[in-house]
Amino acid sequence: MHPKRWLPLLLAMPLATACVDAATPPSAQASTAGVQGQSLQELMQARGLTEADVNAALKTYTPSGKKDEYFIFASGGHGGNLIVIGVPSMRILKYVAVFTPEPWQGYGYGDQTNDLLKTGSRDGRALTWGDMHHPALSETAGDYDGQYIFVNDKANPRVAVVSLEDFTTVQMVASELIESEHGSTFVTPNTDYVIETAQYPAPLGGGYADLSEYDTKYRGAAIFWKFDRKKGRIVPEDSWAVEFPPYMQDLADAGKLASDGWAFFNSINTERATGGNLEGKPPLESGASQNDMDYLHVFDWKKAEEVVKAGKTKTIAGMRVIALQTAIDEGLLYFVPEPKSPHGIDVTPDGKEMVVGGKLDTHATVYSFEKMQQLIADQKFDGRDPYGVPILPFRDAIRGQAEIGLGPLHTQFDGRGNAYTSVFIESKVAKWSLKDLKVIEKMPVHYNIGHILAAEGDTVSPDGNYVVAMNKWAIDRFADVGPLLPQNFQLIDDRGPSMQLLYDLPIPLGEPHYSQMIKADKIKSIDVYKPAGINALTHQIDPFAVKGGEERIERKADGVHVYMTAVRSHFTPDTVRVKEGETVHLHITNIEQAKDATHGFTVGSHNIHVSLEPGKHVNVTFVADKPGVYPMYCTEFCSALHLEMAGYFLVEPK
Ligand code: CUA
Repeated sequence: MHPKRWLPLLLAMPLATACVDAATPPSAQASTAGVQGQSLQELMQARGLTEADVNAALKTYTPSGKKDEYFIFASGGHGGNLIVIGVPSMRILKYVAVFTPEPWQGYGYGDQTNDLLKTGSRDGRALTWGDMHHPALSETAGDYDGQYIFVNDKANPRVAVVSLEDFTTVQMVASELIESEHGSTFVTPNTDYVIETAQYPAPLGGGYADLSEYDTKYRGAAIFWKFDRKKGRIVPEDSWAVEFPPYMQDLADAGKLASDGWAFFNSINTERATGGNLEGKPPLESGASQNDMDYLHVFDWKKAEEVVKAGKTKTIAGMRVIALQTAIDEGLLYFVPEPKSPHGIDVTPDGKEMVVGGKLDTHATVYSFEKMQQLIADQKFDGRDPYGVPILPFRDAIRGQAEIGLGPLHTQFDGRGNAYTSVFIESKVAKWSLKDLKVIEKMPVHYNIGHILAAEGDTVSPDGNYVVAMNKWAIDRFADVGPLLPQNFQLIDDRGPSMQLLYDLPIPLGEPHYSQMIKADKIKSIDVYKPAGINALTHQIDPFAVKGGEERIERKADGVHVYMTAVRSHFTPDTVRVKEGETVHLHITNIEQAKDATHGFTVGSHNIHVSLEPGKHVNVTFVADKPGVYPMYCTEFCSALHLEMAGYFLVEPK
């Protein structure tokens, strides 16, 4: 039954079950003090709730033990990690450690995860943070399949692969071809490729060139990372890239269905401004917003694959790169004007159209793939850009423009022929019809919406129904927590006659950019690592896995190997004696197979911490460089004798 219809019934009922927890301290009860046993009506009055508030609460409240219908995977922005949220409850379910060490998960404090983080080094520099922008769920035939999620790092261009079998990062790839990126990650409809597009142009492959050589030596590029589904890994040797002019390529999207085989990149700063506001030049942002039009890049990746196979590439920073001139000569790359300093390129569910947000223009422009193909076939160009890329005539390439409002950015879709566009300057969500390009409804959000997401909203079969406004500012939404405020995710219900705001979720870690929302039942995650001894990075039995009864300490040429097991409530061995200066290799297997029977392990004062989920094996290598007595203990409250799950790590002086 629709909540509207049964709400009056509820209001008349005594509220014996909705009492506040007797253990809640009086200060936390504030407005609900004394409401125990009162009716819903009285509770609403006491808390100042309207019928709409209660309606929203009933749509999101998820009783203990009940599970969510959808997962949101949100980028953690400059927090560097991935955030998993349930819908409609908007409960944060997990942070998945990716680019930033996460001690709670033992991520970056043991051998496997340290090695993984090292694979994301650039120029030999270890990196301990990332600026994650756009997560992309793996797709099969253009639909989310729930197997993997890819994430990017804008600051230190990298792509990571997260397995949704256990919500764990399994791979990181970093190419030194580019120096920053933004149009990443986006996948092709069968996840053949994960796209990573440069944002701020720089000499390809690194090295120095002065800004005065910007036009000749700086370049953009898009990397097509080849994904091997069977291995569940990106294969760098099979990956390739294409060189772009030194515009700031912005967002990307892969074509699907009608446009499968093509990829689209919008761009800003076709002015090629470089800033220099202390050198007598205009600041970058004003130099970069002079032109009325920038260029949507239209790229035939299927054909590009053939060009790569034919060896028409040059190798830069170990990557096969299709030179810009080759891309032009082979008919791989075309431009279409897009107004003005655009942001966001989103392909419609049928793949027939591409929607670009104007940012400094009030429209969402709808490009027709068919028209663009015809223009290409007819070689009907409106000149070329300074680098020789053919430009398709704007008016002939579009179906039309939707008048959205001030600052349209990103667009998502529902399954009923509608689009949702985030309107940054107006702080609104605009719902509009793809049919007649007319706005149906605009809803205020709080405040400064960046990305927007709808349930499965960028697949070939979007659900719509739930929309989330990812707001950059929270100003007056939450209790004050100092000058650095959380971001604000607002859940919107679009199942009724008009959009309804349901819930505000403060995001207290990083600044999410894009997110994707997938049906929860598409993800089949494991509960325990089976059999015990699994390395979470490889999902295979670790060569150093330890079985119960086989615990031991061995001295080898490379140091002391401690083969240890963890099980409620002891580590075996629980006494480890080493000599000052010895290299120690801890091999620890949690031999439990019970769900949620996680242990943690630390040796004090050595910056060591690992998380041992049931069945997981970890290795930790360190030098016992200072004599002393170091307690080691379990860091997860695993049992009644958790405090006793401890031992001594003794370092005898030489
Ligand atoms: Cu094991 Cu606490």
